[in-house]
Amino acid sequence: MGLRRLEYRGYDSVGMALRTTGGDIARLRTTGRIGALEALLDDWAGPRFDGAGIGHTRWATHGAVTEGNAHPHVDCAGQISLVHNGIVENAASLRAELDRAGHTFVTTVDSEVLCHLIEDERRRGTDLVRALQNALARVHGSWALAVLEQGSGRIIVAAKGSPLVVGHTAEGDFAASDIAAIADWVDEYRVLGDGDIVELARPDSWRRGGIVIPPPALTRCPWRGRDVELNGYTDYMAKEIDEQPEAAARVLDELADGIANGALWEQLNLPPFERLRVIGCGTSLNAGNVLANLARRLGGVPTTTVSGSEAAQEVPDTAQLVVAMSQSGETADVLRGVQTGAVGISPVLALTNNPQSTLARLADAVVGSSAGPEIGVAATKTFICQVISAAALMISALVGMNRVSARSAAALVDDLRRVPDQLAAASAVAKCVIPPLVDQFAAEAGFIFIGRGLGLPYAAEGALKLKELTYRWAEHYPAGELKHGPLALVGVGTPVIVIDNGDPKLAGNVAEVRARGGHVITVGCAGGAIPVVDDPAAPWGPIAATVPLQILARTMALALGRDVDKPRNLAKSVTVE
Ligand code: F6R
Repeated sequence: MGLRRLEYRGYDSVGMALRTTGGDIARLRTTGRIGALEALLDDWAGPRFDGAGIGHTRWATHGAVTEGNAHPHVDCAGQISLVHNGIVENAASLRAELDRAGHTFVTTVDSEVLCHLIEDERRRGTDLVRALQNALARVHGSWALAVLEQGSGRIIVAAKGSPLVVGHTAEGDFAASDIAAIADWVDEYRVLGDGDIVELARPDSWRRGGIVIPPPALTRCPWRGRDVELNGYTDYMAKEIDEQPEAAARVLDELADGIANGALWEQLNLPPFERLRVIGCGTSLNAGNVLANLARRLGGVPTTTVSGSEAAQEVPDTAQLVVAMSQSGETADVLRGVQTGAVGISPVLALTNNPQSTLARLADAVVGSSAGPEIGVAATKTFICQVISAAALMISALVGMNRVSARSAAALVDDLRRVPDQLAAASAVAKCVIPPLVDQFAAEAGFIFIGRGLGLPYAAEGALKLKELTYRWAEHYPAGELKHGPLALVGVGTPVIVIDNGDPKLAGNVAEVRARGGHVITVGCAGGAIPVVDDPAAPWGPIAATVPLQILARTMALALGRDVDKPRNLAKSVTVE
């Protein structure tokens, strides 16, 4: 049940180690879906399970997708079962050393070395908690892990650079890398900090860096398990697209009062900034580009955006604010990006849907984007909520730094408050006009998305959604760039989706496409094929265009027989660099 709640994150194998009343460990693993694991459990003919167990969904990084490489892993004697998220960077040298010491490895997975390191410690008579601590002291890398010892049935968990929470209930103690997995049972939970080790059912055993500490404060569980049910929808993506107007309104209810008076900014206690640097990946980077455009347009703030994985290339700048955008707050590229020397000297503001995340803990201040749980691997409502919370934050900051007047900001707040209705209207239009377009274009091999200025991040997001979900080529370009190369891709019938934010120069670019026989589909202002934008001058750009672009990607993916909630090769939370 808990593993099913994590299905959305993407995985290619799944497994469990469960203690039986006979004192053995049953290890069940499969490269099938979670349903296949449930079938193995149903077929289990051994002694009953005694309630102690660990489980894992694996998204392969080290070692092929095989049942043997699936977690849990075990030591030579089968006493230690272990599940691990993260990476053991010095696995090769540890493995060589353990090999020489006589340990037998049965997988190529880095996590297996952890089992053998703990085994060595236990052979020396070290207590299990201390054994784990000593083992981890030898490891370079990151982990959220759980160890189940066969003989004692004890479960010890540990975290560093990877999320892990524990919850205590009348039904027992739970630990998970994502609160969604245990939200059905847990009302409150504690978040493990870096270097924490704790034994389940023994909160007094909490250690940080080897020293016993009081357990961290309890956090209220933000949602119940049923919030992540399909509730009559055929897929999560459809549900989450439909939830956007409500989610956008919720974000505004939380933040709007602090915009025009600058209070949202003031309460973050961050210093004024001369320049802005926005870090993110994928969809969050697209939302970051919306924020960057807004900061330039409204406040004249020089702004750069950078992918988390490239942030180390940046030049240090003491007068900048770094805004790190990440719905999960666990994207390794973003976490590493904000910790690089070039960026780390600046104040970091995290804009995330997960205020308990590693990113939130690393940052100097946090603004939540309050989208609620998003299960579809492709980001939809989290993008909309990021854009709205980013706009709220930046307008408030510009008021706080006297770059925008309270009066102009109040007018912008009124405009922002219209966004939920604009999203709902866009959805109604899109649901009528997209299906016939999909009938026409589903066989096309490639798609081009173009936009200018404030429309460009939305073209990027449209192309990203289409390629993720349909596995067809879909690229975005600044419309003015087409003639500098990509126009060579346009032939008779090539679909070119134009994000029309009312920029008069778009007409010339559209004419260039039409002259080559390209098929232009205009999403945006009145008069186009998909007219959903009635506020083209808004500094957050043509946000309502997002909805038809999402619906286009989903409808075409379904027409092509794709799994829209779990696109191939992708995971919801990308915790490797
Ligand atoms: C696209 C998508 C990804 C994520 C990216 C960053 O639909 O979901 O591109 O946006 O992996 O993830 P977060 O926002 O969690 O940092």
